[in-house]
Amino acid sequence: MNPVENPYVLVGGAEKVRAIAESFYEAMARDEPALARLHPCDAEGRVELSTRERFALFLAGWLGGPQDYVAQHGHPRLRMRHGRVPVDVGGRDAWLRSMGKALDAHGVQGPVRTLLDTRFADLADFLRNTL
Ligand code: HEM
Repeated sequence: MNPVENPYVLVGGAEKVRAIAESFYEAMARDEPALARLHPCDAEGRVELSTRERFALFLAGWLGGPQDYVAQHGHPRLRMRHGRVPVDVGGRDAWLRSMGKALDAHGVQGPVRTLLDTRFADLADFLRNTL
C-alpha cells in the first residue's frame, strides 16, 4: 500500500483514530457488558483510562501511524498481553462487533474498511486462547 495512503491516513489521522478508540469502548460498555467487565474498570464502570490510552496508541501504530505505543511500552506482544484474559469465540465476536460499530460511527467505509475488517478478524482470532 502506498505509504501516504496507509490505513492511518485513510481513516483520517490522529484525531480520528483517537475518536474511533473512544467509540470502541463506548460501544463495548453499552452493548457488550461481559466483554467490558473483563477489563480493569474505574469507579464509574468505564474501562480504565490507562487501558484506553494504551489501546489508542497501539491502534495508531497498527494502522501505520506514529509508533508511540512501541516507544512507550515495547513490542505489543498481544497474545502475551492477553494471556490473563480468557479470549473465547464469544469475546472475539463481541470485540469485533464493538470495533465495527466504532468504525461505522466514524464513517470508515470502502476498501480501507474491507481491509480493516479482515485484519481485525484475523488478529482477534489469533488472540483466542480458549474455546
Ligand atoms: C483484534 C483484536 C484485539 C486487539 C487489537 C486488542 C488490543 C489490545 C490492546 C492494545 C490492549 C492494551 C494492551 C496493553 O496493556 O498495553 C488490550 C487490552 C485488553 N484486551 Fe484486547 N485486543 C483485541 C481483542 C481482545 C479480545 C477478543 C478480548 C477479550 C475477549 C480482549 C480483552 C482485553 C482486555 C481484558 C484488556 C485489558 C488487559 C489489562 O489491562 O490487563 N481483547 N487489547
